[in-house]
Amino acid sequence: NTWFLLLLLCLGFPPSVATCPPYCLCASDIISCSGRNLSVVPFDLPSYATRLDLSHNALSALPMDWIPQLFDRLATLVLSRNSISRIEVNAFAVTPHLFHLDLSSNELTVLNLSIFTGLAELKELLLFDNQIVQINPGVFRDLHNLQRLYLSRNRLTDFPLGLYWEAGGPRNLTFLDLSYNRLSKVPVQSLLSLPHQGGIYLQENPLVCDCALLALLEYWMWKQYRPLVDFRGEYPCGDDSGPGPICNQQGVLDMPLEAQTYQEEPGKWLRVPCPGLASSTQEGLVVFWVTPRTVVNSSTNDPSAHFIVLPNGTLEIQGALMEDSGTYWCVAARRRHYNPYESMEVNVVVGNLSAATTSGLAHRSGTEHFNTAFTTLASCVVSIILVLLYLYLTPCRCRESRGGSRGCGGRAIILCSDPREVESGQRRSNGKRVAFLEPQAEDSDIGGPKTPVMNLGHVTTEGILKNGSRTVGQTLTDPAHIA
Ligand SMILES: *[C@@H]1O[C@H](CO)[C@@H](O)[C@H](O)[C@H]1NC(C)=O
Ligand SMILES: *[C@@H]1O[C@H](CO)[C@@H](O)[C@H](O)[C@H]1NC(C)=O
Ligand SMILES: *[C@@H]1O[C@H](CO)[C@@H](O)[C@H](O)[C@H]1NC(C)=O
Ligand SMILES: *[C@@H]1O[C@H](CO)[C@@H](O)[C@H](O)[C@H]1NC(C)=O
Ligand SMILES: *[C@@H]1O[C@H](CO)[C@@H](O)[C@H](O)[C@H]1NC(C)=O
Ligand SMILES: *[C@@H]1O[C@H](CO)[C@@H](O)[C@H](O)[C@H]1NC(C)=O
Repeated sequence: NTWFLLLLLCLGFPPSVATCPPYCLCASDIISCSGRNLSVVPFDLPSYATRLDLSHNALSALPMDWIPQLFDRLATLVLSRNSISRIEVNAFAVTPHLFHLDLSSNELTVLNLSIFTGLAELKELLLFDNQIVQINPGVFRDLHNLQRLYLSRNRLTDFPLGLYWEAGGPRNLTFLDLSYNRLSKVPVQSLLSLPHQGGIYLQENPLVCDCALLALLEYWMWKQYRPLVDFRGEYPCGDDSGPGPICNQQGVLDMPLEAQTYQEEPGKWLRVPCPGLASSTQEGLVVFWVTPRTVVNSSTNDPSAHFIVLPNGTLEIQGALMEDSGTYWCVAARRRHYNPYESMEVNVVVGNLSAATTSGLAHRSGTEHFNTAFTTLASCVVSIILVLLYLYLTPCRCRESRGGSRGCGGRAIILCSDPREVESGQRRSNGKRVAFLEPQAEDSDIGGPKTPVMNLGHVTTEGILKNGSRTVGQTLTDPAHIA
């Protein structure tokens, strides 16, 4: 063995010696060098670390070789509370498996192209409390898996929409914090078309309340998205403030909003009124329609377009296609407090009218919940049958000597843990076993033992069916599930 070790040493494979720098704390794979006034990263950090904490130091730049060797197990890198203002291109190529990167409370001002190159597995990026004014195109290009991005407390004046559209960018960004920035306008129409718009935080920005923003905020509120539920008071367009009378609608219907279904055959045109809006045409009204494939608004006036929003908010579909079927939302400033169970949505069904009635109603989440309810029902029925089969078929040997009339094939069905105990006949009534005892009188019925099976099964099935239908009814109007 010693020879083998020596051989390894000679060949240049010294067994790696895990050393922890004296000014760091190491706990197996966690290395903390926090609060040490470091202006450069220590050179001799063990590379087996999965978590490296360099926060509260005096780092001012991350050059390309800020760590000398590859840290390919590093999942978490904390660089918060330094003075980092410069990150060189490919600086994170040495940490390709990072999952969480914390650059908060630094002095970043401009995010340049390629500074995050190679972080294909990154899920969480913390950039809050910097002085970021500019995000150059393509910065997030390699971050395919990014899910949470914190850009709060910076100096952004433009919504970083490129984040969502750029090729190679995050495809699954579910959380974007832009609070405490300098945004005065947001691209309402683009935001309405994002798949994960429910996780965009915009509070504490100097947003100008106009009809479009008001419509967006009302829609998000109705959808019960977390940013609006948690920070409603920190958004503009409150009860008193507002864009003036221009989007206050005189003729708003004060009726409860209910989901409506509109059906049309392919190729025909279809008009879908906006729920909750009055019929009279209003100048300056901004109405967005979120359709399954696109978002359109009332200020687009191309009369040859497939979707047209008429001045009174009604959506006109010209030459309806089968693919137009689905759930539509009319987003407009209605200036009303929504009951979350009210429905702003409209179901559009394009296709065979008779087939439509069946396929149109079970849509989206409704279908899922119905399926869930049905699966639950089916598994309950199966369980009940199995339990009853078990009860009936468990081989309880019975005492034949007790007389022929109380035989085993007959009326006493006993779930017994230990047949010998039953056989002894002494502890049959101590309450520790389940027993179904039928009256002797029913002996003559054909298939007598099966009767309770049917009854029990029937009653339970009915109960579950009721539950199931209630679930479906709820989810159709429950906004938390529609998102
Ligand atoms: C931190 O280090 C710098 C030099 O790198 C030194 O001037 C400063 O006094 C140190 N601060 C503290 C709190 O040790
Ligand atoms: C981006 O580039 C500019 C100009 O080259 C530089 O001043 C700035 O520090 C760079 N930003 C980062 C985060 O490296
Ligand atoms: C997006 O995230 C969800 C869970 O958050 C995950 O199940 C899904 O696979 C992800 N999609 C992609 C394309 O990464
Ligand atoms: C309405 O749609 C047009 C064309 O898609 C777009 O240019 C415009 O910005 C939209 N209006 C608003 C208020 O978003
Ligand atoms: C909206 O206007 C169109 C034509 O201008 C009209 O046909 C339609 O009935 C109106 N919608 C409502 C809800 O009144
Ligand atoms: C619609 O379906 C019915 C049967 O469900 C069929 O008889 C009829 O021809 C269909 N119509 C069209 C336009 O496909």
